[in-house]
Parts: sequence; structure tokens; C-alpha cells
Amino acid sequence: MIFIFLFLLRPTHTRQHAWQLTSNAYNFFSFSKPPPFQHPIPGLIEEARNKFKNMMSKQSRTLGDAVKEYRSRYGRDPPKGFDKWWKFTQQNSIKVIDEYDSLMKDLEPFWVLPPAELRRRIRQVGTLPSVDLVRVQDGKVDVVKGLYDEPSARAIGFSSMVKKFEDVLPDMEFSINSKSEGRVLVPWHFIKFPNSTRQDSTDGFASMIGEEFIVDWRGRSNVWEAFRRTCDPQSQSRRLLNSLRAHFNETDSVNHFESAPNLALDQSFHFAESTNANFDFCAHPWAKNAQGHFFSDWTTISALYPVFSPAKAPGYSDILIPSHYYYSPTSRYTYGFDRLTFTIKDVDDHEVPWEQKSNTVFWRGATTGGGSSPPGFLPQYQRHRFVRMASDSSDINRTVVFANPPETNHYVRAKVPVGALNEDFMDVAFTKAVGCANYPTGCEGMQRDHRFAEAVQLGEHWRHKYLVDIDGMGYSARFFAFLASESAVIKSTVYREFYSDWIQPWLHFIPLSTTYSELYNIYAYFSGASPSMQEAIPSATNLTSTKPSRHNADEELHRIARAGRNWKAAVGRRVDMESYVYRLCLEWARLVADDREAMSFKF
Ligand SMILES: *[C@@H]1O[C@H](CO)[C@@H](O)[C@H](O)[C@H]1NC(C)=O
Ligand SMILES: *[C@@H]1O[C@H](CO)[C@@H](O)[C@H](O)[C@H]1NC(C)=O
Ligand SMILES: *[C@@H]1O[C@H](CO)[C@@H](O)[C@H](O)[C@H]1NC(C)=O
Ligand SMILES: *[C@@H]1O[C@H](CO)[C@@H](O)[C@H](O)[C@H]1NC(C)=O
Repeated sequence: MIFIFLFLLRPTHTRQHAWQLTSNAYNFFSFSKPPPFQHPIPGLIEEARNKFKNMMSKQSRTLGDAVKEYRSRYGRDPPKGFDKWWKFTQQNSIKVIDEYDSLMKDLEPFWVLPPAELRRRIRQVGTLPSVDLVRVQDGKVDVVKGLYDEPSARAIGFSSMVKKFEDVLPDMEFSINSKSEGRVLVPWHFIKFPNSTRQDSTDGFASMIGEEFIVDWRGRSNVWEAFRRTCDPQSQSRRLLNSLRAHFNETDSVNHFESAPNLALDQSFHFAESTNANFDFCAHPWAKNAQGHFFSDWTTISALYPVFSPAKAPGYSDILIPSHYYYSPTSRYTYGFDRLTFTIKDVDDHEVPWEQKSNTVFWRGATTGGGSSPPGFLPQYQRHRFVRMASDSSDINRTVVFANPPETNHYVRAKVPVGALNEDFMDVAFTKAVGCANYPTGCEGMQRDHRFAEAVQLGEHWRHKYLVDIDGMGYSARFFAFLASESAVIKSTVYREFYSDWIQPWLHFIPLSTTYSELYNIYAYFSGASPSMQEAIPSATNLTSTKPSRHNADEELHRIARAGRNWKAAVGRRVDMESYVYRLCLEWARLVADDREAMSFKF
């Protein structure tokens, strides 16, 4: 058999893992025997483990080291109060000390604004609907009510994160997004050449965005049109015709464009190295139709205003803060939450030992996940696509690779009808239909096209080994609860969150592409042949030519489940969120101060 490797088509931000070369000597022009098959997943796991170990071992151990590291990364002194923050980290066993690149990147554009101008912009954007002001004054933090509404849970959550160290903070204000979606999309040339835009907001918010702000799009424009302008003028998304290529083709999806088309195994054997939080929609405009994200009804802000948000997709200028869902315990979103005592237990009452967890891929959720601007695209949104894929009962074949004999490193490839695979191990359903009026065939049509099941309590999830986590209206707020459990999390998202630099895909969770098509092969790797795969063994192709040796992939899955749990307990605690927010406050206090230099920490 001759394999053709099209490495020339290697995508820029993911690496081709479909086949791994064992020797550099083997190359495209060589006609020697193809290298032996190696399953890519063990390599991904190993690489992830090394990366994380390396990062953690390099964290600063003294204040002096932390200052040095800060200066070398960001080219300036740390903000005033850095020593107090350092003390906070030491008192609270904070393990991540130096990893704030993402926060610094969020804040960087605001350095070009004069402090008075920045303060004015906080005030102005704080008067918009769905933006609340949180104010630190005389060492006390408070939510200042929004003009139109009660203060949001997000603003209250943020201010409670600040509470612990409010007394050491100088006066300042934060404009907190009360929605889960990102809000600020500044056109490309305004970010690159801030001097080409208005620098002075004294004439008010409307003068800065060039029109009266209306809270929802009402057909005037949409998120995609605003997003597109954040892209490089040379990119695909800026070319009008390409961006109009409208209808999403499920087999013709995001990763398909990235994988070499002639590989013996197609995209279903292409494993994402990380989530799609760094996916380049500027370069792949057609992929936007697969995400509800681009159909949000809320008008985005087209000038550089500071808005603090729990998550953002690429292109957004929001400043990330931890989600209040992660911080404030609730029975819907918190693992181990005890309703009676309002405390959090290490082990949830519904947790079960690994051996008792079922080998199923579990997901439940509502049909949320995007607005309807423009309408008509709902069936393509991330959750709808997933539920349909996982309940497809057709006999269309999927190619799966699994160990045969079981629990060895000897792999075979077989074609198995997707309906049978879904029957074997997928347990995926909607529990609630919302916004179904936007479905092309209405509520009835949505019910007909998708599996619906009874709603479950959070604790029900822990019975299953695989928990899928998928974006809703914005980021999925269940992620920390899933991590805390002893089940393995498979996550697909287009958002970044405050912890994104701190967590390692393939170590703490399994990243999933936005097409989900490799999910069957993720299962096949870790759990081996399901009944329908076993049936296909007679027609399977041997991939491995060496003698089988023992290999326990279920134990590897268990290790991912435990690593996620350990991460949550070591790096994803409430006090870790406070540490992040503390450092953010110091940076922000300096940015809004008239004398920024005086607000720097001299060591
Ligand atoms: C804006 O700044 C860029 C570089 O920072 C410079 O090349 C350009 O001349 C400036 N434009 C104006 C109008 O000041
Ligand atoms: C979707 O894409 C596949 C593969 O590229 C192609 O065979 C199929 O015809 C497409 N379907 C539609 C409706 O365009
Ligand atoms: C699925 O694959 C099997 C085995 O290769 C084959 O016999 C069957 O015709 C295929 N089914 C479809 C619908 O292509
Ligand atoms: C595939 O490998 C198995 C186990 O090594 C062996 O028994 C079987 O004969 C092989 N099948 C083919 C078609 O080579």
C-alpha cells in the first residue's frame, strides 16, 4: 500500500497528527516502506504532560524571580502592590505565578489611551444596557447599578472576588459585561493604528461609534459583519464573496479544510491539539456558520472601550475575568455543592468509582447557543449539530481505529455504521427547547430532528466516563464542575477564558474539534471495540504489523479524569480566581492612574 503524505497542506495552527513519522529519514520522495503505524493519541498525551510539567516547574519561587520574570516578559516594571499580591500567592499556595500573557495582551491596547480618557471610557460604556459598573472607593468594592437594570450576577460575582483585598486597592472602576457573549469588536485598522481613530471621547459614546447605540442588531448588521472588520484586510474574511458563501455543509466542515485530503484516514482521525479557541475565522470565513457565536443578537461595540467579560472568541477586545458561575457555588454549576450547608464537598454525593462509571459519552443541555441575527441558521449551531450527529441512526459508515486484540497496541481500522456506534456509546440529548421559533420548521421540526430527554441533575453526569462540554450562548459554565468530577471531559469551544493559559489539553481534558467527527475515534482509542466495532473485525484492516503488547487505554482515560480533578483542586480554586483578579486590579489601577510610572513597583 502506498501512502501519500500531503504535509505541504499542513495547517498553520494545528499539527498533522493523522500519521506520525518515526524517522526523519523517511520523506515524501522516498519509496521505501511506510513507517509503522503509531496511534497519535499517546504522543499527544505525552507531549501535554511534558508541557505542563515544564511550565509548572518554571514558576517563580521568590518575589525577586517573579519581578524579573515579569520584566523580561512584558518589558516594564510590575504594578505597585505586586509585593502584596506575591504575599497573597504565598499565603494561599497559588501555583501559577507567571502565566499572565493572556491578561497582559487583553490590557495592552489600553496603554495608548491617556488615563483620563480611559477613565471616561469606563464611565461611558458603564451606562450601556447590560454593562454594570463596579467601583472600588476608599478601600471598599461595590456594584454601582446599571442605568437600566438591576446589577447583574456577573458584576456581583466580580465584586465578591475583589472583596478579599479591597482594602489595599486604590480607587478605580470596572465596566462589567452582564452577558455571556463578548462585546467589543474593534476594526483592524483602529487597533493597528489607534491614532487614526478618535482619541477623545468627550463628545460621548455615540460620537465614538458613529451612531446611537441600539442594544440589539434588529437587522442593521450582525456579529459576523463586525467580526470580519477585525481581520487583516488581506484575509479571506475581508473578501466579500467568500464571506457570503453561506450554507454550512456538515461533511465540508472546519477541519476538513485543514487536513490533507488524501490521507488514508480522513478528518475523523485528525485530533485537535487544543480547543478551537484559537481558530482563525478570519482565514476560514465559511466556518462561521457552524457556531451560534456569530449569530448573537447583541450589538457589538466598534470602538476600543474596556469591557470585562467571562469569555471571548478571537478578534474580541474584551478583558477576561473569571466567570461568576465558577466562583459562586450553586447546585446547577458546582461539583460537590451541598444545598443544606451551602458548602462544597471534595467528593460529590453522586460520584461513583471509576469502575462503576459507564463507558458512555454523555451530554445533556438546552437548545441554546446563539441568537438569530441573521435568522435561519439555527440548525447549524454547535449544539444542534452535535445532538444530530450523536443520534444519527443511519447506516452511513464511520471509519474507526481500535485495538484488536483488546487492550493491546495492535490497531485495526474498520468501517462501522454511525447508527450502531451511536447506539453503542452515545447518550446525547436536548432537555429543553428554547428559541425554537427560530428553527426553520418551528418547535415541532426541532423536536422531530433532535433527540430530547428528561432534564437531569448535575450529579447524574458522574455516572459516565466521558462528559462532553459544548458552548452555549457563550462559554459553557459547567466546565469547572466537569473537571472537578472523576469523569473525563471532552471539550469543544471557540472561547478563551481566564484560565486558558493555565490548563493543558490532552492532560486535564480532551480537546474536540468543532466538527466533533473524531469523537468516535477518541472513544475507540480509550475504550476499545464497542459491540458494533467487534462485529466489523472480520472486515477490518490491520494497521500494526508488530506483535501486540499490552496497553491499557482505559487507565489513560482515568488518568485524564484524575488530572482534571487535580487541576481543579490545585489551580482552579476560588482563591486562584482571586489571585487572577488581584493581579488584574493592580494592572488596572496603574492604567487608570494619572501617573502610571508612580504606580509601578520598584524592587
Ligand atoms: C500613526 O502611527 C503610526 C505608527 O505608530 C505612524 O506610522 C502614522 O504616521 C501615525 N499616523 C498619524 C495620522 O499620526
Ligand atoms: C458536502 O460536502 C461533501 C464533501 O465535500 C460533498 O460530497 C457534498 O456534495 C456536499 N453537500 C452539499 C449539500 O453541498
Ligand atoms: C459500510 O462498510 C461495510 C464494510 O466495508 C460495507 O459492506 C457497507 O456496504 C458500507 N455501508 C455503506 C452504507 O456504505
Ligand atoms: C491481522 O492481525 C492479526 C493479529 O496479529 C492476525 O491474526 C490476522 O491474520 C491479521 N490479518 C490480516 C488480514 O493480515
